[in-house]
Amino acid sequence: MLIAGNWKMNTDLEDARDLAAGIADAITDPDPVQVAICPPFVSLEAVGEELKGTPVQLGAQNMHFEEEGAYTGEVSASMLQSVGCRYAILGHSERRQYFGEDDELVSQKVRQALRSELVPIICVGESQEQRNDGRAGEVVGSQVEAALAGVEFNGADDLVIAYEPIWAIGTGETATPEQAQEMHALIREFLRERFGDTTGGSMDILYGGSMKPHNAEELLAEPDVDGGLVGGASLQAADFAAIVDRAGDQI
Ligand code: PGA
Repeated sequence: MLIAGNWKMNTDLEDARDLAAGIADAITDPDPVQVAICPPFVSLEAVGEELKGTPVQLGAQNMHFEEEGAYTGEVSASMLQSVGCRYAILGHSERRQYFGEDDELVSQKVRQALRSELVPIICVGESQEQRNDGRAGEVVGSQVEAALAGVEFNGADDLVIAYEPIWAIGTGETATPEQAQEMHALIREFLRERFGDTTGGSMDILYGGSMKPHNAEELLAEPDVDGGLVGGASLQAADFAAIVDRAGDQI
């Protein structure tokens, strides 16, 4: 079970420090839930300092697929490693939608993250239109398959999938637990086929899209929902900690 906070393009340096300290305070003993927060790049180091000696881990919201070189404005996996990141969110729908990231690019990033021993949190999810057309399963299935093309890795903890229906992100509209479970089961089946029953069966599949303290419990109770990728509610320490508590109740 993993609860990861995606701060997106929010918080300046001082806000980021305060929020990280607030979250670390509010989450004293998350065991056995894994907890991570993903602040903007410029605050990673400072947030990492705040998190030292706490169980909360650090993640980034994006990274480049090459190790280094002439890629103005980009950040590499080893740079993220050097400031203490364990996770990198890859292929978030906002990256796909506003920055033209496609499946091939996401897959390159996933392979680079794994080579650099970062745990990629690979985001997939359908639009409202695709769901209305009855194509949600097909879209998500092909995104997962493409992101994992050519991927080799050692164990179930090396990689995380986040199912985030685009229509639920930042909208206050959440997938019903049944809708979430249906898609998670489909992803689970793919992972079992791809990596074998044991590994595929125990990889974390997170739900994301307006997860809040009031709806986290029923979503996390579903058998194939192994945690959450939390946007808006991760900007409030108390709300984020409440979601971590709900996750703990499920174990
Ligand atoms: P939200 O964002 O919780 O604000 O809907 C989730 C995400 O985009 O990861």
